[in-house]
Amino acid sequence: MTLSDHPLLEVTGLTKTFPVRQSLLSRWRGQPRRAVQALTDVNLSVKRGETLGIVGESGCGKSTLARTLVRLYTADSGSVRYGGQDVLALSGAELRGYNRRVQMIFQDPYSSLNPRMTVGQVLREALGVHKMRPADQIPARVSELLSLVGLPAEAANRLPHEFSGGQRQRIGIARALALEPECLIADELVSALDVSVQAQVVNLLLELQERLNLTVLFVAHDLRLVRHLSHRVAVMYLGRVVEVASTEAAFEAPKHPYTQGLLAAAPTLDPGSRSLEPAISGELPSPLNVPSGCAFRTRCKSAFGRCATERPLLSDTGDGHMVACHLYSGAGPT
Ligand SMILES: Nc1ncnc2c1ncn2[C@@H]1O[C@H](COP(=O)(O)OP(=O)(O)O)[C@@H](O)[C@H]1O
Ligand SMILES: [Mg+2]
Repeated sequence: MTLSDHPLLEVTGLTKTFPVRQSLLSRWRGQPRRAVQALTDVNLSVKRGETLGIVGESGCGKSTLARTLVRLYTADSGSVRYGGQDVLALSGAELRGYNRRVQMIFQDPYSSLNPRMTVGQVLREALGVHKMRPADQIPARVSELLSLVGLPAEAANRLPHEFSGGQRQRIGIARALALEPECLIADELVSALDVSVQAQVVNLLLELQERLNLTVLFVAHDLRLVRHLSHRVAVMYLGRVVEVASTEAAFEAPKHPYTQGLLAAAPTLDPGSRSLEPAISGELPSPLNVPSGCAFRTRCKSAFGRCATERPLLSDTGDGHMVACHLYSGAGPT
């Protein structure tokens, strides 16, 4: 594996809101338009050949981030650079080229696989649209792709519904690989699968990442899933990145109180070490009404005065361990 120092993907100040439909009455009353703050000032960078795990509770903006990166959603502001290109400004052939190099794989490939097309037809279509191979080499490439994801060659003759959930994920991965991407964005790829099948698909992804030197953004709400295959982990809370660290540091020495709470809440295999007290108290605030200052302060046991008034910025606390928390940014609680 080669990790170059230069980031392949660099996200700076990425912000995305979704306007909320307003009733006629509230408009007539002149009430301000409301918006869901799905992403606020997100900063991230990913090196070539690196797997970045992106974790956080449901609703914290992970899918919005993934979709904004592949231009399925339009960002409100901020920048995304990929290999020196300004992604948010791409159009035409350049955008198609980017969309080939950066492939998104979804949680449920079944909904995106045409139920009447055989797996072979799905893969031949993917190869054909982007003219990945001359016609006479396509059958061999279809078999090769199936073998890459651990499916037998005869899978090509079958329809999606004939496969299990884990196998359908393999088909989704094969379809993405047909386009010879450099970067995969996997959004909750295995979240709907049984635990034993999850491990198999995660292992496949790990193997493919190393073999093809892929750059991977692995999005999951379950911390256990990202640990095994991520080099680094980014933790999101209410549309913001609150911590970025090597996987080892994120799991062994997390700094943000939210990350600490998430880890304490993650089920362990050892029943003796299970704590009964919830590690993070209170409800997740509505993204329509994000708390001022630090968004996590309403649930944070360590919150102090400054947390309500000043938004902590993501900053390096040493060795690239980034955290957005006032406990680490100079003047702490007094
Ligand atoms: N297309 C959309 N229209 C309106 N609101 C959306 C849309 N997509 C996501 N949201 C809102 O943005 C927030 C972040 O959602 P999402 O990115 O799906 O989070 P996650 O993937 O972490 O669960 C949520 O409050 C969600 O309701
Ligand atoms: Mg999601």
